[in-house]
Amino acid sequence: MVAQSTATGEGWSSRSAFILAAIGAAVGLGNIWRFPTLAGESGGGAFVIFYIACVFLLGLPLVLSEIFIGKAGQTDAVGSIRKVAQDSNVSEGWGIFGGIGAIAAFLILSFYSVVAGWVLYYVGVFGMDLIQAIGAGDPFRGALMGESQEMIQGRMGDLFANPGLLLAMHLAFMGLTLFIVARGVHSGIEKAATILMPMFFVLLVGITIYGAVVGDLTDTLAFLFTPDWSKLTPTVMNAALGQALFSLSLGVAGLITYGSYIKGSEGLGGTSAMIAVADTGVALLAGMMIFPVVFAVGLDPAAGPTLVFQSLPFAFQSMPAGSLIGFLFFVLILVAAVTSSISLLEVPTAWGIGELGWKRSMSATVFGVGAFVVGIACLLGYNVWSDVRILSFWPLFAETDILDTIDGFTGKVMLPLGALLTSLFVGWRVDRRMVQKVTGLSGGWFALWRFLIAWLCPIAVTIILVTGLFPSILG
Ligand code: PFF
Repeated sequence: MVAQSTATGEGWSSRSAFILAAIGAAVGLGNIWRFPTLAGESGGGAFVIFYIACVFLLGLPLVLSEIFIGKAGQTDAVGSIRKVAQDSNVSEGWGIFGGIGAIAAFLILSFYSVVAGWVLYYVGVFGMDLIQAIGAGDPFRGALMGESQEMIQGRMGDLFANPGLLLAMHLAFMGLTLFIVARGVHSGIEKAATILMPMFFVLLVGITIYGAVVGDLTDTLAFLFTPDWSKLTPTVMNAALGQALFSLSLGVAGLITYGSYIKGSEGLGGTSAMIAVADTGVALLAGMMIFPVVFAVGLDPAAGPTLVFQSLPFAFQSMPAGSLIGFLFFVLILVAAVTSSISLLEVPTAWGIGELGWKRSMSATVFGVGAFVVGIACLLGYNVWSDVRILSFWPLFAETDILDTIDGFTGKVMLPLGALLTSLFVGWRVDRRMVQKVTGLSGGWFALWRFLIAWLCPIAVTIILVTGLFPSILG
């Protein structure tokens, strides 16, 4: 396809730059914090296998569809969908799901930055511990020596009770995200991805090997890959489907936005597969990195959201070089979070540029500061506003704090809705020849993709949406 100009005139400098940035967007807190948490809570194997099926049967066709829309449209998500609709002679009203996506990305960014702020705090805790260890001439000692299990695990509660500290961490993380996005696609997002992603992979492989050597890999492999199908309840399937969408950054127009900066004429099938494989590989490696350490110390794999922030710091105390590895582990999560948060901010930023005619710096600032303010409400929900229930009228959210409510509403409502509309639009309304031309898919691959996007995705995603909203029908 002949390169067209984007609303911003920006673009990736190469195919590999796009792939790195897209993998950077996909790989984030979802892989290293949420996936092991869910796998642990849901009993392991059956969840993991069902999750992998969701990624390849539903996620991958959607990844291809979103990148297709962006590449064909060459502007922000709403504008790109409108352009594809125009060229297919169907209603431009479909642009609305780009708008829903941009709002979802903005809301996810608000709490994502708060959680990344916790990670930043632990980078500081372990960084200081490592400095002390080096000062004491013993850089390879365990972490946080001399602290009891209660003290180490109590740090999280102390952090949550301290709004000033939470705010400072949230501010630092959002500031960094805004700084990168304001610099633009080429000198900001692409540069961050090309520096941070290789660093991420080196750390990931290094710490996984460490876990395999010092931890309990046999138990971990059995836990992650031996399915007990009785554990695959509708609730677990629902969680796996939702996690697949979140982890691949689907339903928030993120890949439409990144796809719009593609200038070349390369096919999209292989690129999309690489993104899905890399994202899933990282989630599995994260499981293989975390559970050996958890099992080695005899901790509970089903600890839930505190697994990474409470169980692991304690486990690092009795592990060789725990101080150093603990520090590197939290740096790794932070790196993954940055390359994802920039993609979240880029969605509304591109919308401001493309639809409102704003300059990039202004658009990024408006949405970055806006998400920062919403994030403040999230972090106050852990202390001064702990009784506030923003959607109290809705039984599903009657008991959840502000952060969990925004997380639940975006994950259970907005993301599946965005994915559903994407599959209906691309599967049923868009001109097929345009899809073939822009994606480079043909023959059997095209037929397979079309079956998955037009039939399987809408049906399965409708099930997630309905069961997510009305869990009572699951019994
Ligand atoms: N995929 C990211 C993760 O797994 O952490 C989260 C995310 C990033 C969702 C970007 C949506 C998005 F546009």
